[in-house]
Amino acid sequence: MPVGTVLVTGGTGYIGSFTTLALLDAGYDVVIVDSLYNSSKVALDRIELLAGRRPDFYQIDITDEKALDEVFAKHPAIDSVIHFAALKASFAPHSFSAVGESSVIPLEYYRVNVGGSIALLQSMSRNNVTNIVFSSSATVYGDATRFPNMIPIPEHCPIGPTNTYGRTKSMIEDVISDYINAQRNNLEKEGKPFQQWNGALLRYFNPCGAHPSGIMGEDPQGIPFNLLPLLGQVATGQREKLLVYGEDYPSRDGTAIRDYIHVVDLARGHLVALNYLRANQPGVKAWNLGSGRGSTVFEIIKAFSAVVGRDLKYEVVARRAGDVLDLTANPTLANTELNWKTELTMEKACEDLWRWVSNNPQGYRQEPPAE
Ligand code: NAD
Ligand code: WQD
Repeated sequence: MPVGTVLVTGGTGYIGSFTTLALLDAGYDVVIVDSLYNSSKVALDRIELLAGRRPDFYQIDITDEKALDEVFAKHPAIDSVIHFAALKASFAPHSFSAVGESSVIPLEYYRVNVGGSIALLQSMSRNNVTNIVFSSSATVYGDATRFPNMIPIPEHCPIGPTNTYGRTKSMIEDVISDYINAQRNNLEKEGKPFQQWNGALLRYFNPCGAHPSGIMGEDPQGIPFNLLPLLGQVATGQREKLLVYGEDYPSRDGTAIRDYIHVVDLARGHLVALNYLRANQPGVKAWNLGSGRGSTVFEIIKAFSAVVGRDLKYEVVARRAGDVLDLTANPTLANTELNWKTELTMEKACEDLWRWVSNNPQGYRQEPPAE
């Protein structure tokens, strides 16, 4: 008997595929829905290779309520959802535009991210599925250095996203919170027995790294946007150099600080949050998932160069619009309430990323290396 059955939206994507693996390893059955907008079905093969089991998969759009209803009807054992499906390229490549993609096509971001989450909640409601773990982001905090004593950032730091993508995430947090609270209030008022809805709003800091086997990792369909995948391309020769966005920040070396978290730790964070919701019925709560350790861009270049074994070319350019000085988590709440903390370092993420990109420079568009 499985521990439970979980619907994972966006489950063929980067964090979704690692979370699916963690769920399967923990004895859950998994049903994935994904449009494959930014992922490939090969992720399912890699998950099966590592877990020895294959999740069910449906290629559907998260905004398609009817298709979601059909999946719930086909899998009545689903009791929880982990919701990753979203558009997430908050920054466009430097050569294309200095503003983020989400600010160029905001309606599409609101339609998919906010509209898709509402469609999902409506379908969950019709199908009596009452636990949701949501992919939020540290980006909801915006520039936390505008407040005194908010670095490292605790969950009670006021939110204030600086781009459309971040605003979709904070809106969805509100949609989920309002819905869960209304469920309780409405049913209590009517004196009806109610099933408690539960939501985990997981605010991730900077996910990175790959599976230690080197066969599963991030495989964006277009140009990568994040620092480590771009550095990976410099190391494999697919990119001439890294552009460092600003060395005039008031940090220890002038470059911006982020809290890089290994994707395997992050996936385990979803598993423990889901277990917590099912065991404790807490209603809705937000948790930071980060390590508590901040690294500068230069420190990341140094750590990744060390695992590659040579210096990687970079050029310092102007700051990127919308970037903030420091996003480092205070993960105390997740440490204490969820009994979760990171076990893998940023350096280990660099090692695993290098294994992944050197074995699979074209991502999932080629066969895994022979055993
Ligand atoms: P990803 O792009 O690899 O995964 C997202 C998945 O959603 C993809 O498989 C994509 O095909 C799917 N998808 C997109 N639009 C869809 C639609 N309309 N219908 C169905 N599926 C759709 O991204 P990821 O890095 O794995 O991120 C997963 C979640 O975590 C996202 O919600 C993202 O916003 C959030 N997040 C990511 C980061 C990060 O840096 N990677 C940080 C914080 C939060
Ligand atoms: C990290 C640092 C850059 C690229 C983004 C989203 C955020 C979340 C995680 C989804 C910054 C610097 C980067 C480059 C550089 N995603 N950098 N040269 O911006 O912290 O967060 O991903 O929720 O919402 O905004 O991550 O990897 O783009 O940048 O110097 O070519 O590296 O300026 O200081 P970011 P990132």
